[in-house]
Amino acid sequence: MANNKQAPIEGGRQVWASQTGFILAAIGSAIGLGNIWRFPGVAYTNGGGAFLVPYLVALLFAGIPILFLDYAIGHRYRGSAPLALRRMNKKFEWVGWWQVLISFIIMIYYAVIIGWAIMFIYYSVGEQWGEDTPGFFAGSFLHLPDVESQAFSLQPVWHILIPVAIVWLAIIFIISRGVSHGIERANKVFIPLLVVIFVIMVGRALFLPGALDGLNQFFTPNWGALADYKVWLAAFSQIFFSLSVAFGIMLTYASYLPKNSNLTGTGLVAGFANSSFEILAGIGVFATLGFMAAQQGMTIAEYGENAGLTGVGLAFMTFPAIISQMPGGSLFGVLFFASLVLAGITSLLSLMQVVTGAMEDKFGWSTARSSWIVGIVSMLFSVLFFAATTGLNILDIVDNFINNIGVVSSAVMMTLAVSLVARNTGTLRRHLNKYSTVKMPKAWEWLVGYILPIVLLFMMATTAIDLVKNGYGGYPNWLVTVFGWGSIVLGLVVAAVFTAMKWKTIPDGFDAELEHALDEGQVK
Ligand code: ALA
Repeated sequence: MANNKQAPIEGGRQVWASQTGFILAAIGSAIGLGNIWRFPGVAYTNGGGAFLVPYLVALLFAGIPILFLDYAIGHRYRGSAPLALRRMNKKFEWVGWWQVLISFIIMIYYAVIIGWAIMFIYYSVGEQWGEDTPGFFAGSFLHLPDVESQAFSLQPVWHILIPVAIVWLAIIFIISRGVSHGIERANKVFIPLLVVIFVIMVGRALFLPGALDGLNQFFTPNWGALADYKVWLAAFSQIFFSLSVAFGIMLTYASYLPKNSNLTGTGLVAGFANSSFEILAGIGVFATLGFMAAQQGMTIAEYGENAGLTGVGLAFMTFPAIISQMPGGSLFGVLFFASLVLAGITSLLSLMQVVTGAMEDKFGWSTARSSWIVGIVSMLFSVLFFAATTGLNILDIVDNFINNIGVVSSAVMMTLAVSLVARNTGTLRRHLNKYSTVKMPKAWEWLVGYILPIVLLFMMATTAIDLVKNGYGGYPNWLVTVFGWGSIVLGLVVAAVFTAMKWKTIPDGFDAELEHALDEGQVK
């Protein structure tokens, strides 16, 4: 990544060097831990094959339309989330900061999972986790105390803390080089590499004995699940997290696109690439689980009862157990955990850019300064809470609240802000259509401005009531209140504080009168 050319600038703002570079970065952001460790388990527990129905509905009627909204706001108003939303209407700067805070909270635990995966690349060599993989992960690796007796501690685990610190240093290094020389170049190397590794892995998995049974169980639909609203909510939050929409990422990335960019075309490529990868991950994971279940003479459901088929359990307990049973398992393990690291890093870069871009815009910081300050603060939070012995408990709680309440609330606020307050959906649709091959019909305005906020608000309220009534995950109530509700409240408060702070200068780059004249066709 030699810095041989000047980074491209347009209208005083950094821009991507090429459309392909932008698409790769958008795909890199979308494809992440969410695709590999979250999707297969979420799909399996929410109806298997039948989950593809709410999943596709959520993709086509919420994910992609809101992705276009993110693109339109970021591209038209050429700013990080707080700046772009402020330029649309002064009242909305805090919605932008709320998105920055959501990205910040996600990234401080996201980096930790990448740190775990780095250690598991090493443990894969010679399958060092031994026979009892759940015991190894919770005990020898995390040093997790018994939940009953001690659910929270700040005692560091050094073999987690060190790789997490290394992840942060790598992220700071890449982000400090800027959008085109840092993020774009990193994605151009990492994404093709990830795809090659992943295709080799899934190919290998499909030839394991029992693989087809696994796929049968994965795709066998449980249609009854579709009557459960929680299944629909799971599909919507999976799509938002996975596509990186509604919490500032795609908005920020689109703000670095040159003026004449095809917005909807690139959005569709990124959206479908992400879902294809996600379904491929589901196929790979369930082919592998089918193999393991066959070895044990069980169904996947029976096997999953003690091994765990979702999230952390799937990636760090079930997979190591399977790898130990496979011929050539060490190599498969190295590839699997390397793919988690690559997918995670390219998404973490995008989360970080939401925060550093906002700091640059508001406080006039240089890219390098912003990356170091944000990076070091994030590193401290990551290691303090999540590289400690009870890091997994906090991670699980924060992840659940920030996705199901935080991200969904941000989508509701942003869509309502655009439609009810700024009454701007028409302008944004014309903006999208002016530069794009695929034109958005008027129905997009209704969908994004009215239908989606109502549906999402309903889903969020139902989840919130459920969380208040039943708590979460069997954790002590005080822990869920402090870290679950606490992270939401603290995020909102900090967003308000940043909104109240003074701008150094509002950066150039958006001329409202010129944009209006362009919209009206008065100037070319
Ligand atoms: N979109 C990213 C993921 O799927 C955040 O992990």
